[in-house]
Amino acid sequence: MFALKLELLLTAPNMSPITSAKFKNPRAKYNFQGRTCSITGVGSYVPAKVITNADLEKMVDTTDEWITTRTGIKERHIAAQDEFTSDLASRAALRALENAGVTPQQLDLIIIATITPDMPFPSTACLVQRKIGAHRAAAFDLEAACSGFIYGLEIAQQFIMSRTYDTVLVVGAEKLSSIVDWKDRNTCVLFGDGAGAAVLQNRPNAHGLLTAVMGADGGKADLLSMPGGGSRCPATAESVAAHMHYLRMEGKETFKNAVQAMLTAAREALRRCEIDISRIKCIIPHQANRRIIDAVSERLGAKPEQIFINLHKYGNTSAASVAIALDEAVASGRFQRGDLIMLMVFGAGLTWGAAVIEW
Ligand code: ACO
Repeated sequence: MFALKLELLLTAPNMSPITSAKFKNPRAKYNFQGRTCSITGVGSYVPAKVITNADLEKMVDTTDEWITTRTGIKERHIAAQDEFTSDLASRAALRALENAGVTPQQLDLIIIATITPDMPFPSTACLVQRKIGAHRAAAFDLEAACSGFIYGLEIAQQFIMSRTYDTVLVVGAEKLSSIVDWKDRNTCVLFGDGAGAAVLQNRPNAHGLLTAVMGADGGKADLLSMPGGGSRCPATAESVAAHMHYLRMEGKETFKNAVQAMLTAAREALRRCEIDISRIKCIIPHQANRRIIDAVSERLGAKPEQIFINLHKYGNTSAASVAIALDEAVASGRFQRGDLIMLMVFGAGLTWGAAVIEW
């Protein structure tokens, strides 16, 4: 599908012809008929309550030393009992809208990437639409686990470049604490709650999203899943007693696949833009595990100063992970207008993705 899209872009009759000189500026390939999908504002929100590794030592048989050396995580934020994914998403969304100078009423579409919706239906996107007062916007949820935010960026780009919509809100939001088994030390130390958001707008001939790669391998669906709660295993007293409504993971296999998946996605994104990793000012990887990030960075030939890491503060927040990191990287001045940045992710499904953005 993407090869086809690229071919269409390259051969579209109204596009200016591409010369090898133009390829040196990757924007030239993706600036279609003067339209650009620009990220005009980002925002994030994490709940107030923090659980440290020391707190977890009192809950399960673990140590700060084990968690730190195996993952790099030191603490994570956990939502209150009466705080839901739509609340986290709405707060992040309002911050992104404010930073973009866009009112909720201007939104054409809201996409919420999450594996922890408030409920199976209606969609969390519809609940967010109501909470932020975005009455004009269409709204739907997207489920690609930790890859959801990049899937969302690509979908938003398609709507914007096809002239269907001009202003799209993409949010990655999770209350993973609601599906974590707090008695399972294999998983409960890894995850946290939070939300990150981006406003994408058509900006004629401006900076923006250059390419987004998405991939999936359903053959590995069993590596990471929550078996209960769907049509296969509806909630019953037995399913609850059997812990079917908690997240399950084969850690080692997930680790190996994560490294390969992010590498594949990142290399494809760079290839499409015809640029080398050295051109990327800041790389924002999915914040699941420090060792996964180090392994991918080394194989990509990236320098440590190119990599943005904040997982020590939040753990793995799934779809929210790169969105929160993007907001923090922007706020801390890690890159400037015109710099190239790259996001790369992997998640349950398995799914993976990478995006190159001219900021
Ligand atoms: N504290 C202490 N010991 C622990 C803990 C803990 N919290 N958790 C597991 N252990 C034990 C295990 O029981 C095992 O003991 P055993 O050898 O007696 O059986 C031992 O530590 C070693 O376990 P390993 O599996 O070898 O540990 P590993 O080095 O692989 O690290 C980890 C485990 C951190 C889970 C790693 O495999 C990993 O990060 N995998 C990827 C996970 C991931 O990124 N998932 C996110 C996907 S995102 C999404 O879509 C939601």
